[in-house]
Amino acid sequence: MSSAKVNNPDFQFGLRLFGFRLLPRCAKRLCLREKQKYMVYWGRLRQYQASIYEELVSAIVFLFRKIKSIELRSLLALEAEAWVQFLVGSLPGMFGLIVRNFFMKLLCRKKLGFAWIQPRVTLVYTSKLILGSNVGINSGSYINAIGDITMGDFVLIGSNVTISSGQHPTGNREISIFESPVIPKPIVIEYGVWIGAGAVIMPGVTLRRGSVIGANSIVNKDTEPYGIYVGAPAKKIKSR
Ligand SMILES: CC(C)(COP(=O)(O)OP(=O)(O)OC[C@H]1O[C@@H](n2cnc3c(N)ncnc32)[C@H](O)[C@@H]1OP(=O)(O)O)[C@@H](O)C(=O)NCCC(=O)NCCS
Repeated sequence: MSSAKVNNPDFQFGLRLFGFRLLPRCAKRLCLREKQKYMVYWGRLRQYQASIYEELVSAIVFLFRKIKSIELRSLLALEAEAWVQFLVGSLPGMFGLIVRNFFMKLLCRKKLGFAWIQPRVTLVYTSKLILGSNVGINSGSYINAIGDITMGDFVLIGSNVTISSGQHPTGNREISIFESPVIPKPIVIEYGVWIGAGAVIMPGVTLRRGSVIGANSIVNKDTEPYGIYVGAPAKKIKSR
């Protein structure tokens, strides 16, 4: 650019107007808008943070109220079994079966032989679970032994079966069911029982030797030896 043009007062005026006055104004306005946006995000973040803290504190208070009756030892055992299942629960094939069998030997109250535990089975309170030899449990099943579960040899459990040995009392309206303590109700599954896919075995039930539970059935009463039961609630349709 020639020095004559730069020294021209009109050019200098234009430069001042557009280069030094208008542009900084635009920039200032842009900055202000960004700052406003940032303040809105910051405000939201602070609100979110506060609500997270609030939730966390109330969850901790709730947890302490709920677990005050549980011994520290069993809490640690629960944590250990959860991590073991997270680490080995989805391992595929024969290798997965062998690894899970090894860990269940360590975790279960008693395990009398090989357990065929397929991937993605959830076992809770394994310290109160007794497994006979050659028990087969298919994928997606949930077994909670909070009130003790005993399974004999050659029990076969289909996929997505729920077996839970704990009941919540329903009598007291003043306390929510979630907060109320669990009533342990032992479940016994004797030799050679077969439980079809999706069945639910209610707390306190005994499935006698060789009985069969149809797919999607709900068993709320003890079964007879070698009886075949279907439906919700499960009714005996015949004997084997
Ligand atoms: C319970 C079961 C073993 C009965 O088999 P079965 O002895 O051959 O009996 P049938 O098929 O002749 O059925 C007898 C009656 O029960 C009914 N029935 C059978 N299974 C039923 C079930 N799960 N729910 C409701 N009714 C059922 C049938 O409809 C039939 O009724 P009907 O006489 O009025 O027609 C079988 O039906 C079953 O549910 N098997 C589980 C399969 C499974 O989950 N496999 C994967 C897990 S390893």
